[in-house]
Amino acid sequence: MKDTRPLNLLFIADIVGKPGRDITSRFLDSLLRKYNVDFCIANGENAHEGRGITSREFFELRQMGIDVITSGNHVWDQKEVHKLMAEQPALLRPLNYPPDNPGYGSGVFPTRRGEKIGVLNLQGRTFMYPIEDPFRMGKKEIERMRQHTPVIVVDFHAEATAEKLALTWHLDGLASAVIGTHTHVQTADERILPGGTAAITDVGMTGPADSVIGLASRVALKRFLLGTPQRYEMATENLRLNAVLVTIDSLSGKAQAIQRISLP
Ligand SMILES: [Fe+2]
Ligand SMILES: [Fe+2]
Repeated sequence: MKDTRPLNLLFIADIVGKPGRDITSRFLDSLLRKYNVDFCIANGENAHEGRGITSREFFELRQMGIDVITSGNHVWDQKEVHKLMAEQPALLRPLNYPPDNPGYGSGVFPTRRGEKIGVLNLQGRTFMYPIEDPFRMGKKEIERMRQHTPVIVVDFHAEATAEKLALTWHLDGLASAVIGTHTHVQTADERILPGGTAAITDVGMTGPADSVIGLASRVALKRFLLGTPQRYEMATENLRLNAVLVTIDSLSGKAQAIQRISLP
């Protein structure tokens, strides 16, 4: 008999450096068991010392039990990532970078129960480098992926709240969830839209909370007080894991619930 239990998706917010990887490894096993997680996604654009990701962090996170690693603007920070992203379909970069770049912007993957789940990574253009249109490209890609599965999760890596909300409405009823990343501050607006799309403007950050979005506050302050570039230095204190758990009906692809997680 077909398993009709809803699908449980765990999405972990931008993992920042070793502190972020450490807190992920501390909590992930118990989260996967507690919530009976069928598929786990994490944003890894800051996994390498706050800037980008290399094969070392990619495989470390995969081994912990993360199925797909999404990313964003920082994914290009380490040069060796080009080879990694060309070889690893489970590492996504935003789809709407110009097409000659290496890597995958989306993929259809098997869940732990064997159903298919589509994952799409997009990046915003407001207050960010203006790449291709995430609205048109995203919708077209979802229509293509829906030929394989109705369960589709979008990581929308963007700065502006309005752009994030607009894309969420644009994809309502087409995606199971649109999860915002990039600002590193978890918002309290999680909800399910009328068409059945679960949404949160930003899922937050997994890393040192005593910081300015991961950066040592002493250094970040200097940037603002002096108006000059400062050497990047990651913070290390008060580690927190941010995530959301989304429950999805696997037959219709519609979300049934979305719950914020912030640990400890
Ligand atoms: Fe980030
Ligand atoms: Fe980012």
